[in-house]
Amino acid sequence: MTGLDHLLERRRGVLGRNAPLFYDRPVHLVRGSGVWVEDADGRRYLDAYNNVPHVGHCHPHVVQAVARQAATLNLHTRYLDGVVVDYAERLTARFADSLDTAVLTCSGSESNELALRMARFATGRRGLIVSDFSYHGNTATLASLTTCFPVVEEFPASARAVRVPDPRHDGAGLTEAELLERYLGEVAEAVRSLEASGDGVGAILIDSFFANEGLPDAVAGYVAGAVELVRAAGGLFICDEVQAGFGRTGDALWGHELAGVTPDLVTLGKPMGNGHPIAGVVAGNELVSAFQSAATYFNTFGGNPVSAAAGAAVLDVLDEEGLQANAHRVGAHLREGLAKLAARHEPLGDIRGRGLFVGVEIEHDGVPDAARTAWLVNAMRDRGVLLSRIGRHDNVLKIRPPLVFATEHADRLLDALDDALDGVPDRASDGTGPW
Ligand SMILES: Cc1ncc(COP(=O)(O)O)c(C=O)c1O
Repeated sequence: MTGLDHLLERRRGVLGRNAPLFYDRPVHLVRGSGVWVEDADGRRYLDAYNNVPHVGHCHPHVVQAVARQAATLNLHTRYLDGVVVDYAERLTARFADSLDTAVLTCSGSESNELALRMARFATGRRGLIVSDFSYHGNTATLASLTTCFPVVEEFPASARAVRVPDPRHDGAGLTEAELLERYLGEVAEAVRSLEASGDGVGAILIDSFFANEGLPDAVAGYVAGAVELVRAAGGLFICDEVQAGFGRTGDALWGHELAGVTPDLVTLGKPMGNGHPIAGVVAGNELVSAFQSAATYFNTFGGNPVSAAAGAAVLDVLDEEGLQANAHRVGAHLREGLAKLAARHEPLGDIRGRGLFVGVEIEHDGVPDAARTAWLVNAMRDRGVLLSRIGRHDNVLKIRPPLVFATEHADRLLDALDDALDGVPDRASDGTGPW
């Protein structure tokens, strides 16, 4: 038995047989630096997937900030602490004026759960609207609202799932105006039905970039229109920036800025501490303070000084290294290269996304091909490049690297993909394997 097989067996025994792992043959990573990670055999991989090490694996500035604060003071969050206040001020300064207050947590799930509680409290309405292919976290409420993975909870009677725009797959031939009418019609119907049920509309909770939905092309006016319908019914807009936030899209710091709508509550997570578990909800002071006066919310680890130091260090690096602009520039270069590959390789379909959040559809005769997508993800790993797949048809290559990804890294990814595509099995599939 190899060392990897032995570790795998121990993992199954102690972490559960079905704890998720990427790849047919898992990767055992032992260290990382910048956009590179290294496995136990000393093999290097280009990380084109991980958004948690947002400013690069083990960025020295973040590592030092965490180490310095850990050596100074770390404790729970019910003492006065300047590090946390400084961080919250710097973070909220990056939002619209109405979003001036932050409640810090430890995960995206905790942030979304708290945002739902706040929205229901503030509106006095229970009803929720989510997308019909989404994930916002692993708490009981959020699991019940999950529409893109298997869960054991029932979808709540007080929620409605709407199809968000995916013009390529279910809007073919429709004009922009017809698309808007169709998709906003679903939101209007959800609002009507929640009001008729007596629950009313407490909030719409959506990912600002529809990442789990497969990064479909935006339909201009959709988010603004959906939010208008929800607000007219007394509900709030909770915008999940767990994936798209902190400059990933290159064109804006936050995904909701691309849609031109200011949310009532924003939820943050993954990239916020470059791997350190810090997350949060950003909202208006009145809303947050009213909730705090009615409900005692405290979070033992959320907003501890070490987490805040990690968060502040991420903001430093984003600014000092101009990483949002880098995402814009390198993302454009990458999409250009992908378009050139698509001219030569039949399986490459629609190429989309913004900045360093890129999706590439894999198809067979124009039909989504999940099996070839899975094959390519494994083939890229064999060529030393980590990426993944996503979307309703499980056929979108998901490229979402740390923001220090440079053009030379994009070129390396393109070369590997070119090579992998030369060997991709030439047949249609039913999306179930066998690869
Ligand atoms: C859009 C979105 N929201 C929320 C979450 C939950 O975040 P966490 O895993 O930190 O609880 C995820 C996790 O994948 C996510 O993709």
